[in-house]
Amino acid sequence: MNRTAGYQPDSTCPIGVFDSGVGGISVLAALRRELPCEDFLYFGDTAHAPYGTKNPEEVLQFSREIMDRLMQKRIKCLVIACNTASAVAAKELREETDLPIIAMEPALKPASLLRHGGKVLVLATPMTLRLPKFQRLYALYGEGAVPVPCPGLMEKVETADDDGARAYLEKILTAHRMDQVDAIVLGCTHYSFLRPLIRKMLPENVPVLDGNAGTARQTGHVLSERSLLRDEAREGTIEFLTSGNPETVLPQMHMLWERAQHLV
Ligand code: DGL
Repeated sequence: MNRTAGYQPDSTCPIGVFDSGVGGISVLAALRRELPCEDFLYFGDTAHAPYGTKNPEEVLQFSREIMDRLMQKRIKCLVIACNTASAVAAKELREETDLPIIAMEPALKPASLLRHGGKVLVLATPMTLRLPKFQRLYALYGEGAVPVPCPGLMEKVETADDDGARAYLEKILTAHRMDQVDAIVLGCTHYSFLRPLIRKMLPENVPVLDGNAGTARQTGHVLSERSLLRDEAREGTIEFLTSGNPETVLPQMHMLWERAQHLV
């Protein structure tokens, strides 16, 4: 079934971005840096978060509904700013629509190039690490990689619980000898907000990677190939939407948007 028959966005339409909650705002910051003239519509599916501990069928259904909702606002492409939803839904949504869809995956490939005999810790949701998309990546680039499922960690970001996040991360990281770790992969977009915290727990020379800048560059390429990039000099707009209670969620989103400017 092609759900986009007759749907013809043009270059002036906004870029749709979604995540289970606020995590994708870290990707939005990278998108904004890469494509400053574009308008963005960001949807956080707060009412259904977390995704990473649900079952894939549910997350596929949520992703479909969000795509439909954003298409009603005439987006010109969809960025799945969530590793979990990307692993579950990117393939299906691409089969069901002509809308350009940009998806994410944990940055295991670049991390494998930085490895020099030690471990690469891959922090992600249990679902991301379990699904075939990651298993394929692991088979190709997983030498020395240690998948570290982090159920409950995205909630610390959603609620801005910095002390809880610090305690959680200390527990995870002290299970490994840091002089044997060559890189850390943040395989969930929420965790990019924890980068400053993680940095403080690591030796300076250990890189901490996420896929945000790469996803932003890829979005630019995809739009350019389809002649959908805005070409006038202007400052783009950003609108935040949530399936949760806007009164509590929108201020939180704006606060994290400010934080996201200082993550790189
Ligand atoms: N931000 C998400 C990711 O990149 C999902 C977190 C969740 O909802 O469990 O995987």
